[in-house]
Amino acid sequence: MLEVENLDVNYRGTIALENICFRALPGQMMGVIGPNGAGKSTLVKAILGLIPSARGLVTFRDRSLKKQLNSVAYVPQRTQIDWDYPITVWNVVMMARTRHTGWFRKPSRQSKEIVKSALQRVGMLDFCSRQIGELSGGQQQRVFLARALAQQADLFFFDEPFVGIDRKTEAIMFDVFRELKQDGKILILVTHDLGATLKKCDSLLLLKQQIIANGSFKEVITADNLQRAYGDSILLFEQEEVAC
Ligand SMILES: Nc1ncnc2c1ncn2[C@@H]1O[C@H](COP(=O)(O)OP(=O)(O)OP(=O)(O)O)[C@@H](O)[C@H]1O
Ligand SMILES: [Mg+2]
Repeated sequence: MLEVENLDVNYRGTIALENICFRALPGQMMGVIGPNGAGKSTLVKAILGLIPSARGLVTFRDRSLKKQLNSVAYVPQRTQIDWDYPITVWNVVMMARTRHTGWFRKPSRQSKEIVKSALQRVGMLDFCSRQIGELSGGQQQRVFLARALAQQADLFFFDEPFVGIDRKTEAIMFDVFRELKQDGKILILVTHDLGATLKKCDSLLLLKQQIIANGSFKEVITADNLQRAYGDSILLFEQEEVAC
């Protein structure tokens, strides 16, 4: 189980997150939703120990998560990745193995096999020699999914993985998510899609600096909660997309 207790984040005097407490269970996918600037990406980064000013307690399997980062895979939001960085698809995915092999050692045969099968799983093995910047948005997302798989983690964070991708990539991603859940992994999925994606989550966390609601789809997606998170703009949207 992943447990977050009393998490606060302050960016130079501006409160980004306040008193965040929740649990995420093995074999489940938790969807994190909320408007732009709600603190969704900040939440993920704070949990991973990437924000020095963050305060609070994050435990995984009853021990500090900081000491178990080997067990964590993180696919950042697209806007936070430098796509011009000169690196091949193969090496992006191989980066997931450096924690296991070390930076200066040659990758083991086992690592190569793991990278190969991760790329195969997302249908990107044929592109392994390409520069990451020379792929379409959906292909890039698949490569980052492969990197997460190659890490063989127990806890997965995906920050808006569906932005700008087509149905094929989306279907591959959901297949992989289902398999990871079956293997007892914990998945945290930040998403802007208030439609079908939410129904695929086992629980939801609605965020706007604080937790507005946490629980099942029915508990979280209410007119009142959406109004509190998104204001009036959501009401029309809600009737069209959410009430399904
Ligand atoms: N490095 C930073 N320094 C200062 N303020 C920041 C920093 N990163 C984020 N913020 C602020 O913290 C708040 C939360 O940002 P965050 O990126 O976590 O939101 P988000 O919910 O992920 O938004 P989006 O849906 O646009 O991705 C915003 O007000 C943002 O301006
Ligand atoms: Mg974000």
